[in-house]
Amino acid sequence: MELIKDGKRIDGRSFDELRPIKIEAGVLKRADGSAYVEWGGNKVLAAVYGPREAQPRHIQNPTKAIVSCRYNMAAFSVSDRKRQGPDRRSVEISKIVSEALDRVIFTEQFPRATIDVYMEVLQADAGTRCTCLTAASVALADAGIPMRDFVSACAVGKVDGQIVLDLGKEEDNLGEADLPIAIMPRTGEILLLQMDGHLTMEEFNKAVTLGMNACMKIYEMQKEALMKKYTGD
Ligand code: CDP
Repeated sequence: MELIKDGKRIDGRSFDELRPIKIEAGVLKRADGSAYVEWGGNKVLAAVYGPREAQPRHIQNPTKAIVSCRYNMAAFSVSDRKRQGPDRRSVEISKIVSEALDRVIFTEQFPRATIDVYMEVLQADAGTRCTCLTAASVALADAGIPMRDFVSACAVGKVDGQIVLDLGKEEDNLGEADLPIAIMPRTGEILLLQMDGHLTMEEFNKAVTLGMNACMKIYEMQKEALMKKYTGD
């Protein structure tokens, strides 16, 4: 299957073009903070609770809060019905999201506490870990949890020999490499970098630069979503 034709990608995008993205903050009444993100065909809800006392007590850390994340795909989120419950992939994504968020939250301000982040993938279309990280950091900010910075994420990859931004489903399945990246936008510090596939050093550097520039665009959208909730603009 040809993924690039006449300099355009299978969905008509140029190599450095993001899919359409919509971010909304504060969509759930019962959670302390929440966000809903549509990113191409991905639809993700993130809900945050806490900081609250970690239970049972033996899991408490006397020096800092635990950041506990759960990534879950709804049964109807993928084309074959997804078996319910955590599989290896959701355990991995929950772990990498926790580690990235732990780096930005001032966890030392909340000893013995837990901050729980739930991410529900309602519809999946490649790039759900980046969509979830983006949603989770807006939900944390919406919950008023003190953070050094946002986490902004985006995947880059290689398709038909070209480095392209924000892989769609066919590109993710059939492409040569997939590289999700998350950064702290203010400092440019990398919080997540995974790679599936092969790239030359030159391609890798090009991909990281492209991905980091895209994260800055996502960052602007995250800020706008929060501004919209709190000022109505
Ligand atoms: O979603 P992300 O790209 O972060 O992770 P992935 O493991 O590379 O998965 C790529 C895509 O495969 C997902 O976004 C889903 O669209 C799809 N997928 C699926 O159809 N069924 C699964 N059980 C898991 C993933």
